[in-house]
Amino acid sequence: MKNKKTVITYGTYDMLHEGHMNLLRRAKALGDYLIVGVTDENYDRSRGKLNVVQSTKKRVKAIEALDFVDKVIVEKHKRQKAQDMVKYDVDIFAIGDDWVGAFDYLKEFVHVEYLPRTEGISSTKLRRENFDLIKMGIVGLGRDTQSFIDEAQYVSNIKVSRIYAEDFLAVKKFTKESPIIKYGHDNYDEFLDTPIQAVYIDTSLKKHYTLIKKALLAGKHVLCENPIALDGKELKELLSLAKKQKVLLLSALKTAFLPAFNQLLKEIKKGDIGEIKEVRATRTSLYREKNYPDSFLEQGATNILSGYPSLLIHKILGKRKSITFFDQTENGYDISNLIISTHKNQTVGVARVATAAKSEGDAVISGTKGYVYIPAPWWLTKEFYFRFEDTHKSYKFSYEFEGCGLRYMIAEFASLIQRGKRTSKMLSPSDMVSISRVILDYNEFKEKNKKSKKKDK
Ligand code: CTP
Repeated sequence: MKNKKTVITYGTYDMLHEGHMNLLRRAKALGDYLIVGVTDENYDRSRGKLNVVQSTKKRVKAIEALDFVDKVIVEKHKRQKAQDMVKYDVDIFAIGDDWVGAFDYLKEFVHVEYLPRTEGISSTKLRRENFDLIKMGIVGLGRDTQSFIDEAQYVSNIKVSRIYAEDFLAVKKFTKESPIIKYGHDNYDEFLDTPIQAVYIDTSLKKHYTLIKKALLAGKHVLCENPIALDGKELKELLSLAKKQKVLLLSALKTAFLPAFNQLLKEIKKGDIGEIKEVRATRTSLYREKNYPDSFLEQGATNILSGYPSLLIHKILGKRKSITFFDQTENGYDISNLIISTHKNQTVGVARVATAAKSEGDAVISGTKGYVYIPAPWWLTKEFYFRFEDTHKSYKFSYEFEGCGLRYMIAEFASLIQRGKRTSKMLSPSDMVSISRVILDYNEFKEKNKKSKKKDK
């Protein structure tokens, strides 16, 4: 017979408050040993909790500091609870009564207890009271504008209220039809002069630099479609201007902010696939079939798409040593490019992008003991597989993925602003510089090729 009763409970415990403390005390009173599962930030984000202020580490520390808590674990995925009941030989599962019925499936393993919740307090309420709503404006009226507005509705600390575009009639039509955006501008200075704190820029790549610079000078935080600038000097100038102005400048490379993508990077670091030798990622899209105008395609496949594979390669292999391009061009712009880079310890990155050839959009990270496979579309990471020579050892991770993925990026942008942070760990300035360098180097390579062809003639 066991002489001590183990109780387990789970939660986010963001900005630890009285309601949490009451619940934890009630849980402990049910037995002798209390285990608290604190949800991991990527798991929270994947289940739609996008506005948590404190990191997993901070929340774990706060719970560990409570003398009546005996053990703290981190909850990383949905199926973990059932596994924990067996692993920790749990007798009682306790949780607040806002969850009544949700965990009845655990009755198969343990006694389930729904405890009374404390009225009038919650992390949501504290976040609302402690942080102001961020007012945001949109720059550009493109195909993805509506998706951005729709996705921003899921991020409770942000309010998109204005739009700027050069085309006065289009802006007027948009604000008339939009139930959310009521203020439209065709004068950028006037738009920047309103009480918005942040802007999202989605225009043609060539316009980015001027629009970003003005916004930064006006003291606005900027989220801009990737690439931020087509020139290395310009990018560095903008990043240092953002630093000087004490505002955030972030590239809208949405993959970098997905919960599953961040979990993938964490899992790889554990070393199960051994020493990493190669990262290979493909991103192709037949934009012409999706009725994108020629002016969009003329920006070139590398400019439009390489940010995604470059992100994966850079995050895993780090700075590169050399780079080679195998491009295919049409009317002076690239429609396809195979980009091979070398990194430290002779590791290799293989990025394939195309706008006029369709390929499987998957990614593979190869190591000395196994590999990770991310099925297409890998840049909207939902699941990934760790595979080994001995197939019995293989395992899979899958995450929930809501909407088109933009909400995770918007949530990180808002959360950084609120926490007074001016850089993101998910996409740091040095990540942005490295990712852009691929584009800059390709543009240089193209220029050199042009010159040498002229000479040959
Ligand atoms: N809890 C409680 N009383 C409250 C708030 C939370 O008893 N006023 C309990 C929950 O029922 C859960 C645990 O505390 O068992 C952790 O809840 P969590 O979701 O982290 O806290 P909330 O304040 O509800 O967070 P949010 O507002 O982000 O949903």
